[in-house]
Amino acid sequence: MEQELNTLQTLAKAELNTVSSSAQLEEFRIKFLGRKGEFSSIMKNLGKVPKEDKPRLGQLANSVKKELESLFHTKKQSLNTSSAASDDSSVIDLSLPGRKPETGKLHPVTQIMNEVCAIFESLGFSVAEGPDVEHDHYNFEALNIPAHHPARDMHDTFYISDSILLRTHTSPMQARIMETQQPPLRVIAPGKVYRCDSDITHTPMFHQVEGFLVDKNVSFADLKGVLTIFTQKMFDKKLELRFRPSFFPFTEPSAEVDIACVICNGKGCRVCKHTGWLEILGSGMIDPEVFKKVGYDPEVYSGFAFGLGIERIAMLKYGIDDIRLYYENDLRFLSQF
Ligand code: DAH
Repeated sequence: MEQELNTLQTLAKAELNTVSSSAQLEEFRIKFLGRKGEFSSIMKNLGKVPKEDKPRLGQLANSVKKELESLFHTKKQSLNTSSAASDDSSVIDLSLPGRKPETGKLHPVTQIMNEVCAIFESLGFSVAEGPDVEHDHYNFEALNIPAHHPARDMHDTFYISDSILLRTHTSPMQARIMETQQPPLRVIAPGKVYRCDSDITHTPMFHQVEGFLVDKNVSFADLKGVLTIFTQKMFDKKLELRFRPSFFPFTEPSAEVDIACVICNGKGCRVCKHTGWLEILGSGMIDPEVFKKVGYDPEVYSGFAFGLGIERIAMLKYGIDDIRLYYENDLRFLSQF
């Protein structure tokens, strides 16, 4: 046993000299000093040695163990100091799963916006963009909404000064384009609009697409034709349309357009509030007053206009009932589109 202890001591010391990482040091500890290690297995035989040898061998065993333990601690400390510097980067765990690079995608609102524009472009409309910070004149006056007109109340406007505001709709683009170009015109104007309003179906900023067509002999039937093709392409199916008489100061007559509910096909469900219909846009024949303000002769020209909300279309298309989800930037939501 004495010899075994001495051999163990020599072997262990030699092996400790080759240890260069915490992982190796731990292996060393288990092999020599662990509960099932070599030292323990030698000690199991202590009971079998002659009684008179016991005290001596016991002492020897103790001193071997103490020495190995103290060498182990010294090594541990020196590894800790050096690993702080080198970060133990020599240990690479090849069994760890790899890191998948995240791929970015277009925001669902951008995707729908692009889709809407592509459909109207395929119908011969060109795309125009205008300023988010707008004059009261284009946002209201030119659209037949004078100061103190009750229609202004519907808009919850963010004013910057008495005459400058954040546009509340994309309709000002009608006046801006007509002011500088002559008919025939076929234009869509996508962009951001702003209203001081926030709940599950409203956000202070949202997106609209304005569309208008001006020429000789344009009729309500043309409006109906264009919107029928648009809704069918947008929702990938033949959908019934319903024109409900409405009022907008810049169109006469005006109509709000409903489509048969895309969720229940008109049977009635939670999304369409059991009416079978979903409102998707406002529209009408451009009011002669609007033509007069931009210098078009209403006796010669006629035209239609419409305005639709992109978030609303996206909510209907994907069956989402809280508009705020689009703006919380939660990747678990956004990555589904
Ligand atoms: N600008 C209207 C709004 O934001 C929507 C609208 C209605 C636009 C009728 C139009 C139209 O061009 O003809 O509520």
